[in-house]
Amino acid sequence: MHIPDIIIAIDGYSSTGKSSFAKIIANEFSFLYLDSGALYRGVTLFAIENGFISEDCSIDTERLEKALDNLDLHFGEDGTYIGTRCIEQEIRSLTVADKVSPIATVPSVRAFVDKKLREAGKKKRVVMDGRDIGTTVFPDAELKIFMTADPLTRAERRAAEMLAKGEKVDIETVLKNLQERDYIDSHRETSPLTKAVDAIILDNSKMTMQEQLEWLKDLISMRFGN
Ligand code: CDP
Repeated sequence: MHIPDIIIAIDGYSSTGKSSFAKIIANEFSFLYLDSGALYRGVTLFAIENGFISEDCSIDTERLEKALDNLDLHFGEDGTYIGTRCIEQEIRSLTVADKVSPIATVPSVRAFVDKKLREAGKKKRVVMDGRDIGTTVFPDAELKIFMTADPLTRAERRAAEMLAKGEKVDIETVLKNLQERDYIDSHRETSPLTKAVDAIILDNSKMTMQEQLEWLKDLISMRFGN
């Protein structure tokens, strides 16, 4: 299927399968996939390791902001890196998930991530997932999808994913984390999670990945003709 040079923005609630879907799309259409959440998770790991965020999530924004000038956070061969260190596994832990939404409320952190994303999006043929891609990062994206799914289904999927990677978690803890993040993400002052007016809603509670891909192909045919 032919698809023009566009940006596909996928936003939505935590663990709705945005990144899995985005990876499939990237593979299907030879698009570049960019995981904006990984950058927020990377900044969070950096903040934890350097003592910029405390146990109770109070943030030393001034010191964090200064330190961002020297933070070499980027995508590489095996995922997300700080300098030459691959941090892909650590950023997916619950320890990071617990603190990422507070960190993502900090305006200088958002500016830091936005700059990297916009740089990467210049080339087009990009699929990006996050919370504010269609509203703030690429408001002119040609195709915007807003993903949602039933909370328990999301928690079950995420717990299974973590278990497969060797992190033992219970559904209640994961569900609580998802709901807390959804709340903070939707209520923050800078670029809150909200559906762009021109985004199409995809509720995938009862859909397989194949069905999602078919849904998208139909949408692309309607939008761009084929
Ligand atoms: O994979 P999951 O949906 O659970 O989360 P993620 O995409 O890895 O994002 C982790 C966190 O980063 C979110 O809960 C948000 O707090 C923040 N985030 C954001 O604020 N804006 C984005 N564009 C992407 C992520």
